[in-house]
Amino acid sequence: MAGTIEEKARGAFFTPAEIAEYMAQWSIRSPGDDVLEPSCGEAVFLRAAGRALREVSQGSSRPEGKLSGVELHETSAVQAREILANEGFTADVAVGDFFEHSPEIAYDVVLGNPPYVRYQEFSGAARAKSLEAALAQGVRLSGLASSWAAFVIKAALHLKPQGRLALVLPAELLSVGYAAEVRRFLLNRFASLRLVTFEERVFPGVLEDVVLLLAEGSGGANSFQLHQARNAASLAEDAKDWTDFVPSNGGKWTPALVAQHAFQEYDALASQVCEPLSSWGRAYLGSVTGNNSFFTLTEEEANRYGISSKELLRISPPGSRHLKGLEFSTKAWKALCADGQRGYLFYPGANPSYEAQKYIEEGEQRDVSKAYKCRVRKPWWRVPLVDTPDLLLTYMNHDRPRLIANNAKATIINSVYGLMLKDDRKEIGKSLLPLACLNSVTLLGAEVVGRAYGGGLLKLEPREADKLPVPSLEVVNEKKDRLQAIKPQLGSALRSGRLEEACMLVDPIVLEGVTDATLANLRQAREVLFNRRKVRGGNGQSR
Ligand SMILES: C[S@@+](CC[C@H](N)C(=O)[O-])C[C@H]1O[C@@H](n2cnc3c(N)ncnc32)[C@H](O)[C@@H]1O
Repeated sequence: MAGTIEEKARGAFFTPAEIAEYMAQWSIRSPGDDVLEPSCGEAVFLRAAGRALREVSQGSSRPEGKLSGVELHETSAVQAREILANEGFTADVAVGDFFEHSPEIAYDVVLGNPPYVRYQEFSGAARAKSLEAALAQGVRLSGLASSWAAFVIKAALHLKPQGRLALVLPAELLSVGYAAEVRRFLLNRFASLRLVTFEERVFPGVLEDVVLLLAEGSGGANSFQLHQARNAASLAEDAKDWTDFVPSNGGKWTPALVAQHAFQEYDALASQVCEPLSSWGRAYLGSVTGNNSFFTLTEEEANRYGISSKELLRISPPGSRHLKGLEFSTKAWKALCADGQRGYLFYPGANPSYEAQKYIEEGEQRDVSKAYKCRVRKPWWRVPLVDTPDLLLTYMNHDRPRLIANNAKATIINSVYGLMLKDDRKEIGKSLLPLACLNSVTLLGAEVVGRAYGGGLLKLEPREADKLPVPSLEVVNEKKDRLQAIKPQLGSALRSGRLEEACMLVDPIVLEGVTDATLANLRQAREVLFNRRKVRGGNGQSR
């Protein structure tokens, strides 16, 4: 378990035995298989490999295959030797850095669970050595790569051409930009690739979400096979059904998590009926105040300090819980203010009134002026504003990113994004885009382009928001009367959180002509991704 700071620094968390056994059994096929574990910790894989070798050698206690391990941490290596000796295995466990390890022999099997140390903590000589090792294999890794990326590439170097690589890797292999080079390398190097993902978290207490990589042979592959297991215990019995996935060139592998045919249907519809949100306008983060509890005020506070409305701006209050329906109206804003929410931003002009000056002095006494964001601007109490957006877009979501017309013309702070529509799309966009987005392609698209975050939330970075597939201008224009007609029903479904009902109203219009079977596939695919992030969110932060 990644407990102490020292353990975290070397990426030490240990693999459950069921997983190590499954991987050893998959990779070890004959009594003569030589095995390497490049970061062997306390030998969970080498022990499983020893047992698998015995099994294929029909019980002989001395199979010919050699067990070798490398481990940076001497105490773990000593313990590994002991554990192996206690089971009667002969193994060679070297203490050292795998990136400096150049064994004489090539192995039939390389297996293990490499360290995942983020680039921020993985620096200096250790990092340089790892990047060099990857480069020696022709792979130029990005400066953002975590340590596991170079481990994969170096591990493959130690294999015989027809050898097997079995590694536990972070699930970010499927999605993050810096892993694109690793994904490409794997497809070029191996003849066959398999991935196992898990519905439940398999490393209890560990934040990282993992996948198992099973790769073999050489010569290149244009697809891989995927199995979704429930958990580590169910791995052995249910890893029988595998689905094929053909990744797009350099693209993410995340779509493999939904049924392949559903993804193809999604892809086709996303290009026929939708366009990226960026074609509608520009998404941006709201203003960073530096201290929301000082700069945002309730009506009662504004009155108490005697700050006049000339020195206040109307804002969408911090948070996004109030952003539920299709529009954020002046009436809704007033109701929130009456309810004691922070609907005002403190924003005096160049010459603050006496009352505002008093409030500023109070801020100085409370050290608000010393907060980093305040300290670096002049005067410290002037919050830099962003343009008042046409639409509000939530970026931390339980169910879906919400797009809401900013009819209150509220200024935004950084708890939401704004969307500034292009001039020729302003009117129709404000009135119908939030509604048109409640279709099954956009809902699935949000799960595909966004990322699962702590607590099972779906987060959209601004550049991910740009890619969200939303109905095209042409489609919205063509269907505008019918979309307009369902507005009242839709608004009330959304306010009471009945998303499915809203989607059932919008799909027949925006996705007219799409068969029921395809719609069912899209909804099911969204459900799979949605449930996956929820299950993971239950016990830690996922990626
Ligand atoms: C994620 S743990 C896995 C340990 C073991 N494979 C398991 O699954 O139980 C990673 C291990 O890699 C070791 N390690 C970190 N950097 C290393 C390096 N450059 N060379 C060899 N071992 C390293 C750590 O000390 C730690 O024991």
